[in-house]
Amino acid sequence: MQLKENLHYVGVNDRTKELFESLWPLPQGISYNSYLMVNERIALVDTVDVNFFEEFLYRIRQAIGYRPIDYLIINHMEPDHSGSINLIRKYYPDITLVGNVQTFRMVDGYYGTGGNRLQVSDGDTLSLGDKALTFHLIPMVHWPETMVTFSPTDGILFSGDAFGCFGALNGGVMDTAIDTVSYWDEMVRYYSNIVGKYGPQVQKALQKLAPLEIKMICSTHGPVWTTDIPRVISLYDRLSRYEGDEGLVICYGSMYGNTLRMAECIAEAASEAGVRTIRMHDASRTHHSYIIADIFRHRGLIIGAPTYNGELFPPMETLLSELVSRNIRHRLFGCFGSYTWAGQAVKQIVDLTQLCQWDNLMSPVEMKQGDLVSVEEACRALGREMAHRLME
Ligand SMILES: Cc1cc2nc3c(=O)[nH]c(=O)nc-3n(C[C@H](O)[C@H](O)[C@H](O)COP(=O)(O)O)c2cc1C
Ligand SMILES: [Fe+2]
Ligand SMILES: [Fe+2]
Repeated sequence: MQLKENLHYVGVNDRTKELFESLWPLPQGISYNSYLMVNERIALVDTVDVNFFEEFLYRIRQAIGYRPIDYLIINHMEPDHSGSINLIRKYYPDITLVGNVQTFRMVDGYYGTGGNRLQVSDGDTLSLGDKALTFHLIPMVHWPETMVTFSPTDGILFSGDAFGCFGALNGGVMDTAIDTVSYWDEMVRYYSNIVGKYGPQVQKALQKLAPLEIKMICSTHGPVWTTDIPRVISLYDRLSRYEGDEGLVICYGSMYGNTLRMAECIAEAASEAGVRTIRMHDASRTHHSYIIADIFRHRGLIIGAPTYNGELFPPMETLLSELVSRNIRHRLFGCFGSYTWAGQAVKQIVDLTQLCQWDNLMSPVEMKQGDLVSVEEACRALGREMAHRLME
């Protein structure tokens, strides 16, 4: 598929993988994007998951026939993109691999040594004829070797995983040719699940890329962005600053419905006080991928769970460790919990989230057995206080 003169899309769709990185659900599949820049010399930008090599090669040959490829630009070494390096080298033995010092350490470790190599540093340029490519290192977005490749004459940014999203491509590739509506949620989920831990590094990358006149973003997953570039960049900017929108996420665990009654009570009070966006998630039922995405998106967060065998209800402990490891900041926070003989849940929620430095609105609300009456007012106060703080 030709995106513009001299630029071909040669990526593939994966519509059968259930869990990306064996962690994140893919209800709409995922694409592994790869691009061919055709000039006097030809550059292939990234490869695809090795399971799709046959289709990948077919697409390359559709684009350029049996012409040799001069360069393979390796922006990112995660195997969903680097997996076909060895097979590409087999079919194109004269190809020169292009990467930075960290890239080649990983090439050695994953695929063994050998073949032509061109080691580039930050800011270096590679001429393809009358067009050139420049390389910009953006370490830890989300691996240490990560870089992006830019074509200054036509403003094309090959951004690797940055600005990528879940969801296979359904025929069209460019944002101008497709209905992008389903991809925006998937971009938040991709960002928060995969890149979310590295907000400061993403901020650095955005500053570094700001001077480039970007007209087209060719990432490794999801659509190619042109007219929607400002929206894509501003979404990444907000998410990497951990700036949530006005809504509230109430996430609870509950075995027999008691903790859930507290959650309902808090939600009602927040709604009565004017919060329109309230997302409720059961930590046992909703895949954490979606809960993490919702928490990245909203500024209010209330967490509640029962005590289980002297500890915090396990699914909530897992979720909290996922949140803490992503360094989520700037949340208005409240928590609640329940117990029957010796409560531990709220204490552990507070302990586990201490590192996040969230703005804790109230002391935790703790219910013994099913005695909602005794905590109802405290639950309502938490909901109201959250509403006021969200809307102030
Ligand atoms: C398997 C199991 C283990 C529990 N362990 C404790 C415990 O160690 N300490 C305690 O005070 N309550 C414990 N409880 C009681 C629950 O924390 C309490 O009933 C809570 O209100 C249940 O909330 P839920 O109705 O939202 O599931 C346990 C309950 C179950 C089912
Ligand atoms: Fe990656
Ligand atoms: Fe990727």
